[in-house]
Amino acid sequence: MEKEKILAIKDLSISFHTSAGVVNVIRGMNLSLYKGETLAIVGESGSGKSVTVKAIMGILSNNGKINDGEIHFTYQKDGEIINQDLLKLSKKEKRKQISGKRIAMVFQDPMTSLNPTMTIGAQIMEGMIYHYKTPKKEAYQKAINLLELVGITDPEKRMKNYPHQLSGGMRQRVVIATALACDPDLLICDEPTTALDVTIQAKILELIKDIQKKMGISVIYITHDLGVVAKVADYVAVMYAGKVVEKGTTDEIFYEPRHPYTWGLLSAMPDLNSNDDKLYTIPGSPPNLLHQVNGDSFAPRNAFAMNIDLREEPPMFKITDTHYAATWLLHENAPKVEMPSELRNRIEYMLKEEK
Ligand SMILES: Nc1ncnc2c1ncn2[C@@H]1O[C@H](COP(=O)(O)OP(=O)(O)OP(=O)(O)O)[C@@H](O)[C@H]1O
Ligand SMILES: [Mg+2]
Repeated sequence: MEKEKILAIKDLSISFHTSAGVVNVIRGMNLSLYKGETLAIVGESGSGKSVTVKAIMGILSNNGKINDGEIHFTYQKDGEIINQDLLKLSKKEKRKQISGKRIAMVFQDPMTSLNPTMTIGAQIMEGMIYHYKTPKKEAYQKAINLLELVGITDPEKRMKNYPHQLSGGMRQRVVIATALACDPDLLICDEPTTALDVTIQAKILELIKDIQKKMGISVIYITHDLGVVAKVADYVAVMYAGKVVEKGTTDEIFYEPRHPYTWGLLSAMPDLNSNDDKLYTIPGSPPNLLHQVNGDSFAPRNAFAMNIDLREEPPMFKITDTHYAATWLLHENAPKVEMPSELRNRIEYMLKEEK
């Protein structure tokens, strides 16, 4: 059976106007998400993860401009399947039809999503009343159910609390409850646990996984933590300098990575099973996108770069039906280059542990 796409980003290009000039932060991005699956977006700081999901939500800051591209979102309305290019909707239409309703978002810091002057209950109920004109009594009951779902005890009492009366972990649970209030088809989580302490992080992660399973919603999960990716994702997209440079199933990315940047990210991942505490870091830094990039943007940091990398941008090479990478190393005429042997050993070790 053909899988249903819920989201398809095509050739997206976004720039920001700054006092230093125009910065091209998203430079031709292509990505799809299938219904009921979890897509993780990874990549170093500044690679464009948050800007991409803000474009989906229609909440780019005012100096941002979408130069090109499409973001197709497929959903059902009154029994009919609708395929909408989100970039063709006005801000107002988007707020009314999509954002917060069909697509909901959880940010890194729960305080940015919560209103400090409103009770928890009022905040969870707000979206249902706005989008669906849900009667108050019904909205109240649903809010209680949602608080229970996200693991908050004594929900009746919590409904009357203000955000500052809750711990960070509890606040993030409330944000998740609010995000789920309108039964979204897609939940976007942008580093949802980064601001929380480690034990709470694991619990919130479990919660998101649980909800995804129970409700069958699609999830985009942004994180720096590849350990988290391995736990939650079906698919992984690796971003570098405003583009997806490798994408594949979680197994493909972890066990058969093909892009030297992905090799670097995986090599930099802390290894729980070894005592080696000299952590690898990818040398150099990403390009300054105020300037035009010639060739492969990763070339200056790539130990395997070839002459062509400095001149021409690599296309996405197909490895399998689900796995693609943009590196000239995959060209049929390229020399055969294997991933670094330390990484190969680590992967083999991980595979053994799995069995
Ligand atoms: N309003 C803005 N004005 C100018 N530049 C911006 C603006 N918002 C984002 N950027 C730039 O766009 C690039 C991508 O930013 P983005 O926030 O998407 O990165 P990210 O991948 O989410 O990083 P992190 O992992 O640190 O959250 C960065 O270089 C950032 O400085
Ligand atoms: Mg970000």
